[in-house]
Amino acid sequence: MGNDDSTRGRPLRSARWFRKDDLPGFVHRSTLAAAGWSREDLMTRPVVGILNTWSDINPCNSNLRALAQEVRTGILEAGGIPFEAPLMSLSENIIKPTSFPFRNLLAMEAEECIRAHPFDAVVLLGGCDKTQPALMMGAASAGVPFIFLASGPATPRSMTGGDLGNATGVWRLVDSLRAGKVSQCEFAAFERSIMGTPGHCAEMGTASTMAAIGEALGVALPGSSMVPAVDGRRNQIAREVGRRSARMAGEGGPRPHEILDARAFDNAITLLCAVGGSTNTIIHLLALAGRVGVPLTLDRFDEIARRVPLISNVQPAGEHLTERLMMAGGVPALLKTLAPLLHLDARTVDGRTLGEVIATAEVTDPDVIRPLDKPVKPGEPLVVVKGNLAPDGAVMKTCAADPKLLRHRGRAVVFEDVQTIADRIDDPALGIDENSVLILRNAGPVGAAMPEWGMLPIPRKLMERGVRDMLRISDARMSGTGYGAAVLHVSPEAAVGGPLALVRDGDIIELDVAARRLELCVAPEELERRRKEWQAPPGTHQRGYRKLYDQHIEQAHLGCDFDFLRGADEDTLPEGLFDGWVGGW
Ligand code: FES
Repeated sequence: MGNDDSTRGRPLRSARWFRKDDLPGFVHRSTLAAAGWSREDLMTRPVVGILNTWSDINPCNSNLRALAQEVRTGILEAGGIPFEAPLMSLSENIIKPTSFPFRNLLAMEAEECIRAHPFDAVVLLGGCDKTQPALMMGAASAGVPFIFLASGPATPRSMTGGDLGNATGVWRLVDSLRAGKVSQCEFAAFERSIMGTPGHCAEMGTASTMAAIGEALGVALPGSSMVPAVDGRRNQIAREVGRRSARMAGEGGPRPHEILDARAFDNAITLLCAVGGSTNTIIHLLALAGRVGVPLTLDRFDEIARRVPLISNVQPAGEHLTERLMMAGGVPALLKTLAPLLHLDARTVDGRTLGEVIATAEVTDPDVIRPLDKPVKPGEPLVVVKGNLAPDGAVMKTCAADPKLLRHRGRAVVFEDVQTIADRIDDPALGIDENSVLILRNAGPVGAAMPEWGMLPIPRKLMERGVRDMLRISDARMSGTGYGAAVLHVSPEAAVGGPLALVRDGDIIELDVAARRLELCVAPEELERRRKEWQAPPGTHQRGYRKLYDQHIEQAHLGCDFDFLRGADEDTLPEGLFDGWVGGW
């Protein structure tokens, strides 16, 4: 395999570096001779890059160093040459002010790392929320064949004996603490155990949703996403990923645009709905689609959500953790259940169609993977609402909300920023009751780099009275592990003059999910008057990456990519770089 330097009519990328008997070829080969590779190796074998987001400050990804070794072994077994490249790691819980703006930075790093190196294919190793979409976005734009492998879910250790997800469990404990049902002492005792082991959050948060979506998109090997990080089977999968990637390198494909077409995105959205997955993945899928020229819009999510029931009984919309989903047959069994709603002819990196991949899958626990006619909850798992408060749309994970709030009319209580919430949410002078609509603004992509503040806390006095959900509206995101009646990603956001900026305390807000409407019940003339008074907040970043971010970030309904990153580039390295001239000599 790979002895011919022409695959599918295209030369191997690495041949430009290694397979010429000239001065550049000499320099490239002699440089890697220092890494142990012979002239014959480099002249005859395809090259696979392993893009690794390992870091020990990011336990969600801390098993990736070991997985990279298994991938490396698989590549060698299949005749390839592995090179590992470390990329920045983005820990959702550690990075401030929020990891979100760095998704695009990592995507740029991945894209340029791939393009600049002699990789014929790449394996992407990600885990924590932003690392997964960032790697896929970068690799899609680079246009080099890739396989994605997630770190795998953690195995959180509950002190109560129940299934306590890493983050959903924390939110529930915080609710119980605020309601006075758990003491400070009991709460503190969870600190050492709730994250449990290496691996990403073990409920259907953003990381698990994105990993499962990798299988539905066809860019991850079947059955690879839900195996826990500490399970030995993940090592076996990593070796297989290595072997497959080396074959893809030698064969020159399939390339990203051959996998990531409109059918793949429909399949991914179908899976997202069926698992009641993270609303963050809507943003990531929109951005990824932009990289490969698929014209995906929010409306397509709503169209698909209308026909897909919630059939995965996994937190936060259901009861269990992702390990139970794996034991029930994993994503292949889930996709087989969804088969009537999928494009089964979509291609996968496995080399087969999606229909062929799931043909032998079986559901072994029908409580965890429900039949289509026996969903976990009735109704659409997520919706897109529009109206004069969100002209370009907003999203809501309806399967994780109190159904009573899906049609609601209440008075707005407006918070300008997260600090005001922290300072005032329990202030009796605000007059919040259970019918109030809590509004947070200036938390969108431009306003505050879109942190996960959309699950606004419920005031303590209401928690103590047993209130567990309220309607909350913001231009922020919400953790995929979160829950509640939260209307998110309001677009356009307040910081660019979206209607959310015009809401005042006491205004009536109306949400009607069935009609997909979100309205600010204020006369148009009054809104116009307020608009004339509105002033844009001053930009805060005068230099560096955050200035670039401020200047180019797109709104949520477009996927929050940078406007100049849409699309992909063909290999644009000029021949002169490989042809007789050598920089530095
Ligand atoms: Fe990393 Fe949840 S904190 S995946």
